[in-house]
Amino acid sequence: MVAITGTAPESSLVSEVSIGDPALAARLVSGMEGAEQRLRGYAAGASDPRVADLVGHLIGTGGKRLRPLLALLGGEFGTPDPVVTVKAAALAEIVHVASLYHDDVMDQALTRRGVPSVNARWGNRTAVLAGNWLLAKAAWLSAELGAETVRLQARVTNRLVHGQVRELAGSYDGQDALSHYFNVVSGKSAALIAMALQTGAVHSGVPENHVQALAEYGEHLGVAFQIADDILDVTSSSSVLGKEQGKDLAIGVASLPVLIALADDRPETEELRALLGAGRAPAPDPDLPPAGAEAPPRGRPGRAAALPRTVGLLESTGVLDRARSLMDDHLSRARLSLAQLPDVPAKDALRSLCDFVARRDH
Ligand code: IPE
Ligand code: IPE
Ligand code: MG
Ligand code: MG
Repeated sequence: MVAITGTAPESSLVSEVSIGDPALAARLVSGMEGAEQRLRGYAAGASDPRVADLVGHLIGTGGKRLRPLLALLGGEFGTPDPVVTVKAAALAEIVHVASLYHDDVMDQALTRRGVPSVNARWGNRTAVLAGNWLLAKAAWLSAELGAETVRLQARVTNRLVHGQVRELAGSYDGQDALSHYFNVVSGKSAALIAMALQTGAVHSGVPENHVQALAEYGEHLGVAFQIADDILDVTSSSSVLGKEQGKDLAIGVASLPVLIALADDRPETEELRALLGAGRAPAPDPDLPPAGAEAPPRGRPGRAAALPRTVGLLESTGVLDRARSLMDDHLSRARLSLAQLPDVPAKDALRSLCDFVARRDH
């Protein structure tokens, strides 16, 4: 097994994926270094130094760099041109960072990748604009890569927005809460993970049926990745995550553990359901205060104080185990999608990524 290191931030997960083939490991090292240089260069190259500060804020500070790695691995199922796949890898991370800027505004996040979030440091309006700059940069890169990439980028941005809007709106009357959840995460998380693989593959001459199999793998890996993120919100710590632990619970996000708990009518979950505020309307959108008034905080007062008890009950009542089992279902489906692909060394790396998600701790 070869550990991959490079100029990527220490939190980068490339060093955690097992790569049996030294030639593949060398290509990934070089590709990740190239993507890293491009990312930093794009931010530094913004024509206004204030914009450069804003858009560079999260680029150099950490992150797992999952999406660029997937773009490089997608290319491995064909004949990758290193210059082109590195650009595709940087594109996927740029769209991801833009989505983090916007997501942190939605979630009123204070911390991201171990540093103050852009909204916490510069305010919501600036954070939204900086996210828009990143999406504009992504559009530019896509145009350089060609019409198919422009379509992929437009489609993923569309799905991201739909996922996030659906999350804010909540499920409508009569809609099954779990199917609403899977709709949300398919848009807000899985779409980009699938797109990263596709973008790397389409530029490497990968046959269409294999591109589709990679996209299918990415959709399932992405759903599992988001479920793991929802579980970590409950079980991990702010210092490990680089973002606030318990944030979903505090602001009333319908994360998977919350939905499982609310749908559970066993007597042992009664206290948990009460703590999670079963049957109450979702918190108002903080972006819609009456004219001239301060935006109300998202979530309900008192929730944060009850956090340790809520976390304990989520674990002891088996709610988290049920979330883990749904995550495992999606990881099995991701592994199954790989069966349609040729046995190149990158396939083992994609399998190893499923194991990484299953045991994710950050
Ligand atoms: C966070 O993604 C947003 C989700 C889809 C859960 P990551 O967990 O990949 O964030 P970074 O890139 O490592 O910061
Ligand atoms: C948001 O999901 C995913 C996107 C960035 C679009 P989360 O809200 O769960 O992501 P974190 O937990 O803030 O990273
Ligand atoms: Mg968030
Ligand atoms: Mg989260």
